[in-house]
Amino acid sequence: MSKKPVILGIESSCDETAVALIRENKEGEPEILSNVISSQVDIHKEFGGVVPELAARAHIEKIDLIAKKALDESGINLNEVDAVAATAGPGLVVCLSVGLNFGKALSICLKKPFIAINHLEGHALSPKLNSKINYPYLLLLISGGHTQYLCVEELGKYKRLGTTIDDAVGEAFDKTAKLLGIEFPGGPKIEEFSKKGDPTKFDLPKPIINKGGCNLSFAGLKTAILRITKKIKTEQDKYDLAASFQKTIEEILYKKTKIAFAEFKKIYGNKNNLFVIAGGVASNKKIRDRLNLLSKEENFETIFPPIDLCSDNAAMIALVGLEKFKKNQFNNLDFPAKPRWQLDENAIFLKGAGVKI
Ligand code: KG4
Ligand code: ZN
Repeated sequence: MSKKPVILGIESSCDETAVALIRENKEGEPEILSNVISSQVDIHKEFGGVVPELAARAHIEKIDLIAKKALDESGINLNEVDAVAATAGPGLVVCLSVGLNFGKALSICLKKPFIAINHLEGHALSPKLNSKINYPYLLLLISGGHTQYLCVEELGKYKRLGTTIDDAVGEAFDKTAKLLGIEFPGGPKIEEFSKKGDPTKFDLPKPIINKGGCNLSFAGLKTAILRITKKIKTEQDKYDLAASFQKTIEEILYKKTKIAFAEFKKIYGNKNNLFVIAGGVASNKKIRDRLNLLSKEENFETIFPPIDLCSDNAAMIALVGLEKFKKNQFNNLDFPAKPRWQLDENAIFLKGAGVKI
């Protein structure tokens, strides 16, 4: 029997240093051999967000140790690795460069192919780590840096239906948390707080809810929350605000996803109703429940990656590496870090003041 490919994946686009090894099993499915993540939350906590310079330094300090740990846990020898895959973008350029250069150096030493990976493609394909999925499918990517509806047509082929025109949804969670005095990253804590609050207490805006197709906007929410936090006094007020914010996000995603479903059906007909939700915010249970409900109403099957693979990890990077390896899609060692690398390269840039939607 021929040897099944083993891919070493590296992720360092933001504040997680991660290395994973995966191998294709007999059934042709990806099998995670190890998946090691070192989070920098404690480093960035006191600044209320990721500080690029500190993040890059921490990646440099940790990457070789994390790689060694991942190799040890996988039971694989370095010389059994068939290719090295590393995130090349999008992300913070100083952070990307660490994992990318480490990956290139490893591929030179091992004399094995190097594969540059788009971080978003990692999130997009991450549910394939535990489910069999056929193309095409509709993807909602909700993370700290991105909020997009994408049609995933095949490996490397994406069509963007909608995107945020300002903040990402995870960013909105983190900013709200910061205004409530919650430590970074506040998303999970906001979800906790919201369970103790009254979601009808504060009426928050839903920017561009009735225009712009399935494009989204969250910046106005932050301004409204800033105004309210100046007036609130008690702990219960904080819980009520968190609950109102959580409910508003659910409603925005519900409405925009409904539009995305209709647009997806218009392109691919009624036979391919598969909906994948990935990225850190996909860990939010109430968002999951709300979108599951909508999927049922609209006859879509919903798939989430397992919770531990929603946030940034290197298993999803190794997975895309494996798919590309099987198609002989390798990259030269001069492949640059691409801080703004989009999945749909034809999609127009829709961010900032004066954007027309
Ligand atoms: O995908 P991810 O790990 O990193 C990026 O690529 O950005 O996503 C991190 C984001 C953070 O903004 C974090 O607050 C948010 O995901 N997040 C959540 C939850 N867990 C993580 N937001 C809301 N509810 C959660 N349970
Ligand atoms: Zn991510």
